[in-house]
Parts: sequence; structure tokens; C-alpha cells
Amino acid sequence: MTATIRAVANQKGGVGKTTTVQSLAAALSELGRAVLVVDSDPQGSLTFSLGFEPDELDPTLNDVVTGRATLVDTILQHEEVDLVPANIDLAGAEVTLLSRTGREYLLRGELADLLESYDDILIDCSPSLGVLTINALTAADEVLVPVQCETLSHRGVAQLLETIDDVRRLTNRSLTPRGLIATMFDGRTNHSKEVLADLLARYDLPLVGAPVRKSVRFAEAPAGGQSLLAGGTQVPGAAAYRIIARELADEPIPDDLWEKARWTDVQRDAVLGAVHG
Ligand SMILES: Nc1ncnc2c1ncn2[C@@H]1O[C@H](COP(=O)(O)OP(=O)(O)O)[C@@H](O)[C@H]1O
Ligand SMILES: [Mg+2]
Repeated sequence: MTATIRAVANQKGGVGKTTTVQSLAAALSELGRAVLVVDSDPQGSLTFSLGFEPDELDPTLNDVVTGRATLVDTILQHEEVDLVPANIDLAGAEVTLLSRTGREYLLRGELADLLESYDDILIDCSPSLGVLTINALTAADEVLVPVQCETLSHRGVAQLLETIDDVRRLTNRSLTPRGLIATMFDGRTNHSKEVLADLLARYDLPLVGAPVRKSVRFAEAPAGGQSLLAGGTQVPGAAAYRIIARELADEPIPDDLWEKARWTDVQRDAVLGAVHG
């Protein structure tokens, strides 16, 4: 196996990056794939969501940045996936990396040793376009952009796409913007539908899988360190992440999964009809 590395990035906070990484990792692992997730956010939300206490961990990603550990040394096993953890120490990484030659390539170099050990590597980016996110984009084959279907956040996406273009020119020619992941989608409101239709019309990015419906269950999930998917719930959002995982893994998507995600052809046309014709 050779892992595909995907960065989940959007410099806006609270758009569902961490939730997407955790849920997608669980869905990929359900398909029998070996998955590594990398927490690249000093807030350590992904680390916490997987049931670890970020501040008690040693070593973490920051020790890789400072050269005290290799990435392999930091890996923790979680029931569903392997994790490279992070905590608040990583907040110093931007400064540490400033004086380091080839600072954009650190993560890429470290992950190169792990490519044969996993099918999928997902990087949870921090809400910034700083050197950590550039590291993630430089290491990645593809970038997934979660967008919240609640507020109009066009400028944020445009700025991210500019950064992706810079990375493609300067540090990673093969980086592919894979598409948008629509998060917190509320099918009952016109606003959610309009935001999604507008984003897809405005940017040259396809929608990956189905929009992830809003559900309070996502906020409840982190408590036990288990993803919503592992809990066996059938909320539409879980089905959406299973669809996204199958699309990324190039696996067939059964009809009933589209229904569970509430994104049948009819529903899709009702939302996107105005865009596609
Ligand atoms: N589909 C969803 N429905 C409802 N709440 C969600 C959904 N996805 C994420 N959330 C919640 O939104 C908040 C922000 O999500 P998070 O994944 O932490 O965003 P980010 O990593 O981009 O900051 C969290 O409280 C999370 O539980
Ligand atoms: Mg996050």
C-alpha cells in the first residue's frame, strides 16, 4: 500500500475540519483501510476528540518540529485509527520553524517514512494559513475544504485557494484541490441550500460526496473518545461521511447510503438544479 495524504484545511475556525477528520477516518477504517490522522492544530481538538488528554502527552508533533522526536515516535493507537497528537506546545512551532531550512518540507519528509504503512493519512489543519498549514499542504496529495453551509464565507475560501495555488507553484506541484465538504448542512432552510449552491457556482471545486447534515450528535460524540460513526448511529451526517469515504477510496456507493444521507438525485437537483442547469 501507498498512503494517499489529504490535508483538511480552511483557515476559518469552527467549520468542521476536526469533525471531518475524525468521522472520515472512522468511515475509512470501516472500509478496512489503515488510517493515520495527524493533529496539526495547537488546540489539540482532534487529539482530545480521540480520547486523549493533550497536555499530558509526550512526545507530540511539536517534538518533531523541534527535532526531539521523529513522527513515528509520537504515534498513538486509537481503536479506529492511529494518531500523531498535538497540544498547545505546537503554538511555538511557527517561530521554531522560522529559522529552519526547508521548513515547509518537515511534515512531508517525516510522512515519507510512513507511506507504506497506511492507506490513508488525514491532516487536521489549524485555523490559519501559517507555516503549519503550509507544511500540511506541502505534504499532501489532495486538499479537502470543509465549508459551513450556515454563513457566507466566500472570501475565506478564495484566500485558501490562493494559498493552494502558491503551494502548487512553490513547494508541491502535485497538490490537487479535491473539493468542498459541505458541513452543518440544514436541508430545511433555504439559506443552507443557497450557500451551498453559491459556493459550488463560485469556485471551481466539486462537492465531495453528500452534504453533511447538521446534528447535535456531532457535538456530543467527542466525550467518549469515540467517533459518531463508531457509536453506530444512523444520523444522516454519519451516512454522508461514509459516502465521502467511499468516494475517496474509490469504492461503490450503495443507493441506501444516499437515502440515509438524504441526498438522493431528487434532493440534489432541488438544491443544485439552479447551478447545473
Ligand atoms: N454536521 C454537524 N452538525 C452539527 N454540529 C457539527 C457538525 N460538524 C461539526 N459540528 C460542531 O461544530 C463545532 C466546530 O466543529 P470542528 O470540527 O471543531 O471545526 P474546526 O475544526 O473547523 O474548528 C464543534 O462543536 C462540532 O461538534
Ligand atoms: Mg479543529
